[in-house]
Order: sequence, then structure tokens, then C-alpha cells
Amino acid sequence: MTPNVRPIRKAVLPVAGLGTRVLPATKAIPKEMLPVFDRPAIQYVVDEALQAGIEHIVFVTGRNKGAIEDYFDRAYELEDTLRGKAKVEILAEIDAVLPPAGTMSFVRQQSPLGLGHAVWCARDVIGNEPFALLLPDMIMVPPADGVNCLAAMQAVYHARGGNVIAVNACDPDFAHNYGIVSMGARDGAAFELTGMVEKPPKGTAPSNLYINGRYILQPEIFELLATQERGAGGEIQITDAMKKLLGVQPFAGMEFAGRVYDCGDKVGYLRAAAALALRNGQWGADARAALLEELSIANR
Ligand code: G1P
Repeated sequence: MTPNVRPIRKAVLPVAGLGTRVLPATKAIPKEMLPVFDRPAIQYVVDEALQAGIEHIVFVTGRNKGAIEDYFDRAYELEDTLRGKAKVEILAEIDAVLPPAGTMSFVRQQSPLGLGHAVWCARDVIGNEPFALLLPDMIMVPPADGVNCLAAMQAVYHARGGNVIAVNACDPDFAHNYGIVSMGARDGAAFELTGMVEKPPKGTAPSNLYINGRYILQPEIFELLATQERGAGGEIQITDAMKKLLGVQPFAGMEFAGRVYDCGDKVGYLRAAAALALRNGQWGADARAALLEELSIANR
């Protein structure tokens, strides 16, 4: 039987992080604005949300993150100059990334108290409805014959209701860097979630399935986050709040069939930039030739 599910209209994107692992690049600009080939990292994540049917995005932001807000606004002088020079194609590209008026909100996380706290800061704008949570450090590339990660999760959500977390398999040696889940009965890509743990100490992870940064959550999560309990790293963790919801509400996992690029560190950014350049319809072939040439020069 298909459960009676409410649509997922809004998404939370926490963007208050300081980007310490990619300094000095992030000294004066938000890490979400670092280019991944030809556009800021945040653009890929917003695109994923919009393609999955999201109508409104709530950014949880902080001090020195103003560039994100500006990026999603009109750039009047720039557009006027381009128009004057009849740079029609570039203008069209800029126009294509402008969201419809009124579809983005920005709330401040005043102190870096953890991901759970950042999500809790969006509670008033989300209200009493289920929502998506997308962590912008993680850039997803769908499989060649498939849809993006959040769109695939929407299908699982519509079939099962409740909460959905996307996972990927990781090298067990890296499991301590992530939230790790335990898998129950499986049905295709979806499975019943039986447990989760945030950043398990090395060698103790219950599986190698890590939470990849995409969630569909019911609004009851806000009440659990309101207790502000500290978990791993002394931070208020979304994983701990979800754990409390497990057993009370349906919770599904979904193994994402595409590629995940963790831009949380320098090599992750490099890998994401290379991958997205190679997949770019206009520049892919040139990028491939350039990357191969650089590799052969470096190997000499
Ligand atoms: C967060 C989550 C973690 C998840 C990870 C994915 O951790 O708490 O469960 O696996 O994102 O990137 P963070 O990377 O913020 O430490």
C-alpha cells in the first residue's frame, strides 16, 4: 500500500561552515563559492534540489557568507555591461541560474554548534512539513542512466513515507569520518534502516555504508534537535536526533548508484572539478585532453 505522504517542497542547505580544511582558499570567500570547474560548488547542489522538485531553499548561513546571497541575486551592473556589449550567450547563462523571486530564504546560525544545530535554525521557515536536507560539501553525479540522488530518494519516499537517508559504500578505513548506518531488509536500492552512529571510532563501524549528505526528514526532528544534546566532537549532531526518531517513525536507507564527491578537503575539490569538467557537454573533450597532457608531463 502506498502511504499517505506529504510532498517535499523545501530544502535546507547548511552553509555556515568555516571551510578550515580548504584554507587558505576560504580565507576571504565562502567554501561553497569555490569553483568546481566553471561554477561555484553550491550551484550543483541547488540544481540537484530544483531538479528533484524542491520549490524553496533555506540556506543556514553565517558571518562572511554574503557572497552566497549575492550569487543568487541579480548582478545589475554586470548584466547591464554584458547587454551593452551584446554578450548574449553569457547573459543567458547568468540568467539561467537566477532563481525565481522569493524562492530562497537565508537564516543565520550564530554559533558553530554542529550540523544538528544548523538544521534546527531553519525550523521556523520549514514549519510543520517534511523537508530535504542537502549538505553542500557533497556533490553528486547521477549514474549514466539514472536520476540525481535527491530525485531517487523522492521515489523511495513516495513508496515508503517517513524519513529517507541516502548512503554510499566507503573504504572501511574511512568510516570514522562519517555517519554510518546498519542495514535491515533490502528491496532494490532501498532498505530498512536499523541503526546509525556518527563518526564511530576506528574499527567499530557497523558497516561501510556512510551517510552521503542527502536526507528527507519529518518535521518532528526539530523537537528532538531542540534539546541541544551534544554528541561526537562535542557538537549537536543530526545523526543523534535521527537515531531517536528511528523506531518511532519509518526510516529507510537508499544506496545511491551515482558518484559522490566530498569537497570537504582539497583533493576532494580537485577530484570534483576534474569529474565535472570531464562531464561538461561543451568543455568535456578539451578538459580531457588538458588533464591527460598535465598527467603525462607530471609523470615524466
Ligand atoms: C556530516 C554528517 C555525517 C555525514 C557527513 C557527510 O558530517 O554528520 O553523518 O556522513 O556529513 O559528508 P561532517 O562532514 O559535517 O563532519
